[in-house]
Amino acid sequence: MKKVAVYPGSFDPITNGHLDLIERGLKIFDSIVIAVAANPGKKPLFTFEERLEMINASIEGHPMQSRIQVGSFNGLLVDYVSSIKANTILRGLRAISDFEYEFQMALMNRKLSTEIETLYLMTGMRWIYISSRIIKEVVMSGGCVTGLVSPAVEKRLAERLKEPNRSL
Ligand code: PNS
Repeated sequence: MKKVAVYPGSFDPITNGHLDLIERGLKIFDSIVIAVAANPGKKPLFTFEERLEMINASIEGHPMQSRIQVGSFNGLLVDYVSSIKANTILRGLRAISDFEYEFQMALMNRKLSTEIETLYLMTGMRWIYISSRIIKEVVMSGGCVTGLVSPAVEKRLAERLKEPNRSL
């Protein structure tokens, strides 16, 4: 029986912190399904298709690519997890600031489905300070994010934020 974990998120856009978590998750699971929330609560900078495209470009050629799938969902995460016959949600935890939201989300998901467990991995030290939000903010203000996101994401960000009247 293969061990599969679902790694959900908005991925607006995917960062090297996300990729690090996937790599570390693959030490525990046989495969990981990156589950992109089609309509996340917060208004994304990138469309659903763009977010998927950046994920695919970021995992392209990865040595563990065959063990990484990309999926998407609308509606409840637990319904998506059950629909693909998985029972584990994988999430990363950075600092204390993530804890309250993650705790609430994990408990709500457990209330919605007692069959599904959420597993947290601490973000790698190297990526502890990055988030999709801060990456967008830095690029928007003219800063460089090389090494924090894949080259494909860096290119997309530069293109998007150069568009006139574009704000986060
Ligand atoms: O990357 P994010 O924005 O922190 O991801 C949050 C996400 C998309 C995983 C979460 O908002 C989610 O699961 N949304 C789907 C709706 C749902 O199932 N809500 C109940 C649990 S909070």
